[in-house]
Amino acid sequence: MADQHPHDHDIVTRPAIAMAGTGCDAEQYAALYRRSLDDSDGFWAEQAKRIDWITAPTRIANWSFDPVDIRWFEDGVLNICHNAVDRHVEAGRGDRTALIFEPDDPSGEVRKISYAQLQREVAIFANTLKKLGVAKGDRVTIYMPMVPEGAFAMLACARIGAIHSVIFGGFSPDAIAGRVEDCRSDWIVTADEGLRGSKRIPLKANVDTACDKVPVKGVLVYRHTGGDVAMQEGRDHWYHELSADVSRDCPCEPMQAEDPLFILYTSGSTGKPKGVLHTTGGYAVWTETTFRYVFDYREDEVFWCTADIGWVTGHSYIVYGPLLNGATALMFEGVPNYPDHDRFWQVVDKHKVNIFYTAPTAIRSLMREGKDYVTRHDLSTLRLLGSVGEPINPEAWRWYYETVGKAKIPVVDTWWQTETGGIMITTLPGAHDMKPGSAGRAFFGIAPQLVDGDGKVLADEATGGSAEGNLCITRSWPGQARTVYGDHDRFVQTYFSTYKGKYFTGDGCRRDDDGYYWITGRVDDVINVSGHRMGTAEVESALVLHPKVAEAAVVGYPHEIKGQGIYCYVTLNAGDEPSEGLEAELRQWVRKEIGPIATPDHIHFTPALPKTRSGKIMRRILRKIAENETGSLGDTSTLADPAIVETLIETRKNR
Ligand code: WTA
Repeated sequence: MADQHPHDHDIVTRPAIAMAGTGCDAEQYAALYRRSLDDSDGFWAEQAKRIDWITAPTRIANWSFDPVDIRWFEDGVLNICHNAVDRHVEAGRGDRTALIFEPDDPSGEVRKISYAQLQREVAIFANTLKKLGVAKGDRVTIYMPMVPEGAFAMLACARIGAIHSVIFGGFSPDAIAGRVEDCRSDWIVTADEGLRGSKRIPLKANVDTACDKVPVKGVLVYRHTGGDVAMQEGRDHWYHELSADVSRDCPCEPMQAEDPLFILYTSGSTGKPKGVLHTTGGYAVWTETTFRYVFDYREDEVFWCTADIGWVTGHSYIVYGPLLNGATALMFEGVPNYPDHDRFWQVVDKHKVNIFYTAPTAIRSLMREGKDYVTRHDLSTLRLLGSVGEPINPEAWRWYYETVGKAKIPVVDTWWQTETGGIMITTLPGAHDMKPGSAGRAFFGIAPQLVDGDGKVLADEATGGSAEGNLCITRSWPGQARTVYGDHDRFVQTYFSTYKGKYFTGDGCRRDDDGYYWITGRVDDVINVSGHRMGTAEVESALVLHPKVAEAAVVGYPHEIKGQGIYCYVTLNAGDEPSEGLEAELRQWVRKEIGPIATPDHIHFTPALPKTRSGKIMRRILRKIAENETGSLGDTSTLADPAIVETLIETRKNR
C-alpha cells in the first residue's frame, strides 16, 4: 500500500520563533501524544484542570462507538460562560481586552471590550433573554452579523443554560425556517441589518419571512445599522428597549458536563442539514486545549480568526477557545476585498495582530491580486499563521508562508469538522516541521485510521507507514459531537455505520511515512465551496422545487479560487425550453432557497441524465465531465443510454 508522493519530502523547517509558550517541543509532543492514548483518562483529567469546575469530574471518558454513546467528564458540573468570562475578571484580569471589533467600514468605530465589560454585557444579555421568557434547555436561534453582540448572545445562552443555534447570516429565510422548525426554537436573536463590503444584509426582514412559515414566540432585535425594519407587536422587541431596565447581575447556571451547549446545522451527503449537538464539559476542555497548544497563545497577544460566528470555526476559535484562554480575539465584520484587496493586512497592521487564522479560499483570492497589497503594510507583529476549512494547495501555502509570513513564522494547517468541535490534525508550531499541503500530525488524543472501501485497515498510528484511504477516527475525544439533535439514529447512521465501531469523517486522506496526514477532500456528496460546506443533495432539492425543473444532479468541480464550484445538471419538464433567462432564474432560485453561498456556478441543461438500467444516476460520470476529465470516464457500459454521455461532453459549460 505504500504510495510515496513527491510532496512527502517537501519539508519546511519550523522557524525558531516558534519555540512554544505552551512548552511543547518535538520530544514533549511525542511523550504527550503517547500518554494521551495510553493514559487517556490521566491526560484529559490533567487538561481539564485548566477549567473551573463547580464539581470536578471524577469520571473522565465513558464512550462507546457501538452502540454509540459518548460522554466525557460526566459527573462534572461547570458553566462555560463563567470559564470564558467571569473567572478572568475574578482573577484580576478584568481590564484585559477580550474582543476587538473592527467594523466593515474601515473608518467606522473600533470597539475594544474588556473582560469586565464583557461580563456586564453578557449578564445584561442573559437577563434580557430571561425577560423574554427563555429558560434553561430552550433553543435560541441566533442570526446575527459579525458584531460583538453575536458573541454576547451565544455566551448569554451558555450562561443561563439555553442551547444556541447560530445560523450564518448568508442563509435564506427558508433555511432559517427549516432550522428553527427542526430544533423547535421559540426565540430568535437578530439585528436590523448586517454589513458586508458596504452591502446591507436584510437580517430582520429575512427573519420575518422565515417566521411567516414557522412562527416563533419572540424575536429580539439588535439595532446595528439603524435601517428600517418592521416590528411585529407582541413578538418583536428591540434589544436596547427590553434590556434597559434588567439587572446587571446574572448568575451562571450550573450545568452538567453533558448538558447541551449548542446545535450547529451542517450539510451531509443526504437530506436536510443536520443539527450537530455539542455538550458543555468536553467542548470546553477541547477548545481550551486545542487553542492553547495549536496557536501557542502568549499573554497579551491579539488573535484573529477571520471566520464568521455562524460556522463552527467562529464558535470554537473566535468565541470559546480564545475566551477560555483569556485571550484577545479580533472580530471583523467585513470581507477581505473591501474597500480594497489589502483589508486583511491593513487590519493586521492596525490592531497589531499576532496570530492570524484564515481559509485557503481567502488566501487564493488575495494571492491573485499580487504581493503589493501585502508588502505595503507592516506585518511584523505576526508570529503565527493558520489555515482551515479545506485543503490548501502547496502554491497557496507557499505564498502565505513567504509573502505574508516572510518565511519567518510557522503556518499551521488545521484539519477538523463541525462534528469534531475543534482541531484534530495539525502541526504544533514548536514541535513540528511543516509540509506545504499537509495538515500535519494527529493532535493529542486523536487516533486517525485509514481504511479501504471494505473497511480493511491500511494505516494508523499503531501500524505506522504510508497509505491512502478513507479517514476514520477510532476513539472518542472530548470535543466530539454527541448526537444529531432529535435524531440519534441519523447520527449513528451517518458517522458510525459505514465502518462499524469507528467515526467516519467523510474525507479521503493519505498518511506518509513521517505520520503527516494529507487530506484529499470529501469522498461523499459533500462539496466545499469557498470553505463553506454544502450537500449536493440540498442544491438538488432546491432546484427540483422550481416548476420547470424535472430532475437535477449537482456535483463539485475544481475551482481556482473557491476550491470547488457548484455544477448543476438540469433536465426540464416536457414543453419547457432551456434559455439564458431560465439559467439566471434558476441561479436566483437557489439563492432564495438556500442562500447566496449556494449560488450555482454552472447550470447545464440536458435532455437526460446518465443513468444505469436500474435508474441510478451515475454521478461519477457527471463529476468527470464537470472536471473536464472526459478522457477517463471509465466504464459506461452499464448506462441505459450511453449516447447521453456524448451529448453532455459536447454541451459542457466550463470549458
Ligand atoms: C474540510 C470546518 C483539508 C474537510 C472546520 C472537512 C479541510 C470539512 C481542512 C469540514 C484542512 C476542513 N484541510 N480539508 N485543514 N479543514 N477541511 O464542518 O473536508 O465546515 O470534512 O468544518 O472541511 O467542514 P466544516
